[in-house]
Amino acid sequence: MDMTIRPRRLRGGQTLRKMVRETRMDASSLIYPMFVIDGDNIEEEIPTMPGQFRYSVDRMHYELERLEKAGVSQVMFFGIPAVKDEIGSQAYAEDGIVQRALREARRRFPDLYYITDVCMCEYTSHGHCGLLHGEHVDNDSTLEQLAKIAVSHVDAGADMVAPSDMMDGRIMVIRSALDGKGYLDVPIMSYAVKYASSFYGPFRDAAGSAPSFGDRKGYQMDYHNRREGLKEAGLDLEEGADILMVKPALAYLDVLSDVKQETLVPVAAYSVSGEYAMVKAAADAGFVDEDSIICEMAVSTYRAGADIYLTYFAKELAGFMKEGRIG
Ligand code: PBG
Repeated sequence: MDMTIRPRRLRGGQTLRKMVRETRMDASSLIYPMFVIDGDNIEEEIPTMPGQFRYSVDRMHYELERLEKAGVSQVMFFGIPAVKDEIGSQAYAEDGIVQRALREARRRFPDLYYITDVCMCEYTSHGHCGLLHGEHVDNDSTLEQLAKIAVSHVDAGADMVAPSDMMDGRIMVIRSALDGKGYLDVPIMSYAVKYASSFYGPFRDAAGSAPSFGDRKGYQMDYHNRREGLKEAGLDLEEGADILMVKPALAYLDVLSDVKQETLVPVAAYSVSGEYAMVKAAADAGFVDEDSIICEMAVSTYRAGADIYLTYFAKELAGFMKEGRIG
């Protein structure tokens, strides 16, 4: 057979295959989302997310230690407060769950990097991501609340804030509030391109944050839309976002790829609770091989353009990267 170009030539053996890999990654790009809950002596498994736990502040060090050992240095905190109210006031309370977790975590693990999710849905009695006017989630009055939450997180020691509410204009308002307090160097990772997704189902069980009426389609994006992702990304950039996130990850790789190509900032992808839960359930049933699926999902996301990957499988992935199984 007369053939000069043979693609298989570059697949002849593990060393060569690794040498010509197009996608490289390491554990410094992983962020582990972690749930902290008010109360004492709590380490409870989340039923819809087997292997993931809610930790009270006095027990979260077990998990932080495991992360540090695994080589994952970036953590994102989600708080679950003991009391919720109409305006989500625990979200910016000085002794709120995230604020206490930050202070304690910084004290015990000063080398980890702490990011916080800035949103109201875990803190409001109605479960929406903003203030209500009747049954409407009011954009502009919510902005001030979000700014207060972000500032209170940084006051308590957050290295970076990540607003996930999807109100218009929140990056601008949060940036100016942070700057006003002298936090000029604290970056904002914006959940810029966040779709209204059923893939968040397990998270809402974990955080008790399902809306008590209606849904989030009035503020999160319609998943039929691709170009609108670039519109959202562009607005957040103009408002001062330092890092743009696309969420969920696996079902939105087209959008991720667009955002990577069209912008000049680091791009993050969040592999959300539903993605995690599906892998766990299918693996538990013996239908797929868990470790291989975790690797393939991660590499696909990086290949599509992610610079940063938020995933509940961060520890496992750090191990696979270290072994050279991927990366
Ligand atoms: C808060 C928030 C949510 C997630 C991250 N931040 C839930 C939502 O928007 O309903 C989802 C994360 C996950 O599913 O893993 N707004």
